[in-house]
Amino acid sequence: MNEDTHERRIVDQFTRWAERFAQLPIHAEAGAMARTIHACALRPGVEALDVACGPGILACAIAHQALHVTGVDITPAMITQAQARQRAEGLTNLAWRIGDAVALPFEDDVFDLVTTRYSLHHMKDPVSVLGEMKRVCRPAGRIVVIDATPSPATRVAYDEMERLRDPSHTCALDLEQIREIGRDFGLKEVVIDGYRLEAQLDALADASNLPALTAMFDSDIDAGRDRIGIGAWRSSTGIRFYFPISIVAWEI
Ligand SMILES: C[S@@+](CC[C@H](N)C(=O)[O-])C[C@H]1O[C@@H](n2cnc3c(N)ncnc32)[C@H](O)[C@@H]1O
Repeated sequence: MNEDTHERRIVDQFTRWAERFAQLPIHAEAGAMARTIHACALRPGVEALDVACGPGILACAIAHQALHVTGVDITPAMITQAQARQRAEGLTNLAWRIGDAVALPFEDDVFDLVTTRYSLHHMKDPVSVLGEMKRVCRPAGRIVVIDATPSPATRVAYDEMERLRDPSHTCALDLEQIREIGRDFGLKEVVIDGYRLEAQLDALADASNLPALTAMFDSDIDAGRDRIGIGAWRSSTGIRFYFPISIVAWEI
């Protein structure tokens, strides 16, 4: 898979999903957002950047407490959704850019806070992404990463499930791997937190890949084991599961 192909796959996938993604309630779930905002340690005057901002859910949440927020994403259709959210929330302190997380279109040392949520698992080179986040962050600034972190024992099955659901998935990192990237960049870890993000399978899968995913979840549930590490169960509305999400914040 060359880089162009991967980028094309990302843009194709998220162009198709943009509207549905923007409207799914779990992406703005209040408890998860509160933990994320807490990790950002917002204070007056903060200038923030949200990398791979998608439909601007986190960027807008930060903008309510910051001086200014910029959101950058590689998928133009996601930026269109972000602009609509900004208008709906009546916010004026946001700007949006189309750009690649591995070559952020910003000077060095220009933001106090740099975040990225639910994105590292789409990246071919998450280390370079964190390197770019560090480059654009001012000294004494904060970097916050939020993503699914399966346990080392479940990572292979988790990646298999995610690639079935979403062909633009590369690999999920486990929590220790994310912490290690921060250590290698000399960042000072200040927050380790997390949450389980509960979801319904058929709300997150395309009709074309739902049968294969259902078979995979069924085999976990029927065998009474949790090979995928997402605690899948059958409810009256269909198969449900949770994403194991970690929040890691560092100071430079
Ligand atoms: C699962 S969505 C998350 C969106 C948003 N961060 C959120 O938490 O709601 C992943 C986003 O990453 C973006 N993305 C993937 N690879 C990217 C890259 N190399 N540079 C910038 N954005 C990227 C996609 O376009 C998509 O909007």
